[in-house]
Amino acid sequence: MAAASEAFLARASRSIAACVKIVSRPGWRWLPQLAQRLAGPGLPLHFIVRKRFIEDSVHAALAAGTTQVMVLGAGFDTLTWRLHTAHPAVSFFEIDHPATQHIKRDALGSCDANLRFIPADLTQQTLQQVLARCAGFRRDLPTIFVIEGVLMYLNAAEVDALFAELPHSVRETVIFSVMETMPDGRTGFHDATFLSDRILRLWREPFRSSFARSAIEPFLARHGYALAVVADEAFLRARCLPEPLRHATAPARGEIVCVAHSVQASTP
Ligand SMILES: C[S@@+](CC[C@H](N)C(=O)[O-])C[C@H]1O[C@@H](n2cnc3c(N)ncnc32)[C@H](O)[C@@H]1O
Repeated sequence: MAAASEAFLARASRSIAACVKIVSRPGWRWLPQLAQRLAGPGLPLHFIVRKRFIEDSVHAALAAGTTQVMVLGAGFDTLTWRLHTAHPAVSFFEIDHPATQHIKRDALGSCDANLRFIPADLTQQTLQQVLARCAGFRRDLPTIFVIEGVLMYLNAAEVDALFAELPHSVRETVIFSVMETMPDGRTGFHDATFLSDRILRLWREPFRSSFARSAIEPFLARHGYALAVVADEAFLRARCLPEPLRHATAPARGEIVCVAHSVQASTP
């Protein structure tokens, strides 16, 4: 994962890659640690437990017979790349914006035939149009969709349209993350510092949607899915951190991971 991420970074931004190389040296580690403290100490840990929980959920789905893994907005995540060789009978797909995916494919080089990359700008094409031209994708096979760290960059209408366009096939699972609306109605990490807000703004990644926790279940029901798990900070901490860390460190609060099953799937 580290080697692949280094290769992505080298292609995405030479200057950032060079900075990362410097601050990775033992004598310079205090710098990212300080930045982490100023930006909100729980943010990197949140990303780690989010990824760990999603990976565990994909493993569980594969063990239960899922034969297709479809990742929307995969970015530089390495999950499908790491899993596809170990699961040759499973089809893995990544749909992502062409600009991001181009860098990733260039860095990864050739992959086995069961990992397919589909470049698509989802603001220009509907998910149904993209799935229709996705060679090898079958609506009748048990599938897990992973939509991690993506929905908050879409507005409410776009999130609604995306869920309406999922296949809703038998034995379909969707694992997705959303921002949870703060009690005062704002969207963001609940314990974000001024600096972390600035960083997200610098990355030009403003959040455009969030969910009140009570709204998630009705939203999914309207789209034909049953909510199975809501993994919030307390859940992720208990599930994904080993005992000594569990009580010492808190992941950031504000983004929750949900697991939902197509209602057809839960019908015996
Ligand atoms: C914050 S990254 C999340 C990456 C990955 N899922 C993760 O959690 O590590 C958001 C991803 O959404 C993708 N994305 C943003 N807008 C998109 C669009 N209009 N069409 C397709 N993908 C898009 C970006 O290319 C990027 O890969």
